[in-house]
Amino acid sequence: MPEIAIAVDGPGSSGKGTVARGVARALGYQYIDTGAMYRAVALLAKDRSISWTDGPAVAKLAAGLRFQFSWDGDILRMRVDGQDLTTAIRKDDIGRGASDISVHPEVRTALLSLQQGLGREGAVVMDGRDIGTVVLPEARLKIFLDAELEERARRRHDEMIRRGELASYQDVYAALEARDRQDRERKVAPLTQAKDAVYIDTSQLTIREATEVVLALARARGAGA
Ligand code: DC
Repeated sequence: MPEIAIAVDGPGSSGKGTVARGVARALGYQYIDTGAMYRAVALLAKDRSISWTDGPAVAKLAAGLRFQFSWDGDILRMRVDGQDLTTAIRKDDIGRGASDISVHPEVRTALLSLQQGLGREGAVVMDGRDIGTVVLPEARLKIFLDAELEERARRRHDEMIRRGELASYQDVYAALEARDRQDRERKVAPLTQAKDAVYIDTSQLTIREATEVVLALARARGAGA
């Protein structure tokens, strides 16, 4: 049986990245972080003084980029045109920029063909906002990971403190809420659960437990068979 494609969608800090990565590693699959691709485009646009509101200019930039993902121990490195952007894209303002540029249909079209190319062969776990609905609508397993906003804000705040970024819990909460709204309400490929996705609330689960749930579903659908 050919190896399957697994789509993992959900809002920010729902745990989808960590779970998707753990599932990919356990199955020996490729892991593609599509949020990192949007973040890279936002970062490079900023570097080149292209406004995040200028859809056509940002799309032109995105369409010409070459993305490479590779494992470095437990870290998934992302190189864009040979430049290692793994750490630089994690800053909070770049997350906001990624959400801002992702509302432009032409930017989404530019990244869509790259993402579909990366997912074509199967044996892949891809995470994002529109993977089950738009990027890989034929994925054998679709997961929608969610958690209560308070819990997601707490996770994001802890992560920022660990990285040495100063931010109050209230500010993190407000920024996450605003980003969620923008991602859910945009006209093209908004964050929404695919009809055939399995909904998992991670508020009360550890990352390990959530990963085990997804792995069991993946195996039941033929992964690693
Ligand atoms: O998952 P993340 O926080 O790294 O994603 C950053 C932003 O990128 C997110 O707020 C919206 C956008 N995004 C998107 O529109 N579609 C995706 N498939 C992935 C991310």
